[in-house]
Amino acid sequence: MKKVLINGAQGKMGQAIARLIQTHPEWGLEVAVKRESGQSVLGDFDVVIDFSSPQGAQEAFAIARKHRRPFLTGTTNLPETFLFQMQEEEKIPVFYAPNVSLSVYFFTELVRQAAKMYAGYGATLHEVHHVHKKDAPSGTAKKLADVMDLAYSQVTYERTGEVVGTHTASFVSDFDEITLTHQAKNRDLFAESAVQIALWLMKRESGFYTMSDYAKFKLKEHKK
Ligand SMILES: NC(=O)c1ccc[n+]([C@@H]2O[C@H](COP(=O)([O-])OP(=O)(O)OC[C@H]3O[C@@H](n4cnc5c(N)ncnc54)[C@H](OP(=O)(O)O)[C@@H]3O)[C@@H](O)[C@H]2O)c1
Repeated sequence: MKKVLINGAQGKMGQAIARLIQTHPEWGLEVAVKRESGQSVLGDFDVVIDFSSPQGAQEAFAIARKHRRPFLTGTTNLPETFLFQMQEEEKIPVFYAPNVSLSVYFFTELVRQAAKMYAGYGATLHEVHHVHKKDAPSGTAKKLADVMDLAYSQVTYERTGEVVGTHTASFVSDFDEITLTHQAKNRDLFAESAVQIALWLMKRESGFYTMSDYAKFKLKEHKK
């Protein structure tokens, strides 16, 4: 059994990840350390999974480096300096994605293609999330805005109820409208993907990895 340190373990994502690991013994993982804000780490672990806060992500990164263990973070709104630090990492395997869902990654690629094909159209992007979400627009919306060549200020957003996350990209002309929507049904979409990526990350060399690296690996696997 490989041991997982979950940083932000009492949070919505942390709890979803712990529950999935417990209900899937075939993944060969166990939750060994549950870390919360301000806690020191007792016990051994093979990988660090972080869904906490920008401060929490940086603390968890330092813990992973100190113990020389792979580090995965999905925490959003991270400072540029920290992103740069992770990109430069040479001691441990590091993975970061503002959206860890492989399905959302493929959706972003569809939107990228659509933005090229409907280049003369007016483009809009709208996102909806639950009322507890702290950042706006979402990390995923920022990524989509990048591929649509929109400024973040052009992204419209709503915070309502317990919506897990919906992103809608539209391309509009005087004659027609094309709409691409990704709607997350529940948080396990991200939690399951995060665990699969952690399993993959544990087999990688030191360095920085993103969804593009993981997606390439998965597409090769699909072709086999
Ligand atoms: N990449 C993705 O696909 C993806 C998907 C979902 C969410 N997210 C991101 O993941 C993060 C967490 O989301 P969530 O919905 O799980 O939020 P949440 O329910 O608010 O949980 C965050 C947890 O982290 C803890 N925490 C805060 N600061 C910490 C620190 N310094 N050290 C250790 N733990 C700390 C919080 O504890 P306290 O309550 O005591 O502060 C809380 O238990 C957010 O940035 C969110 O945007 C990313």
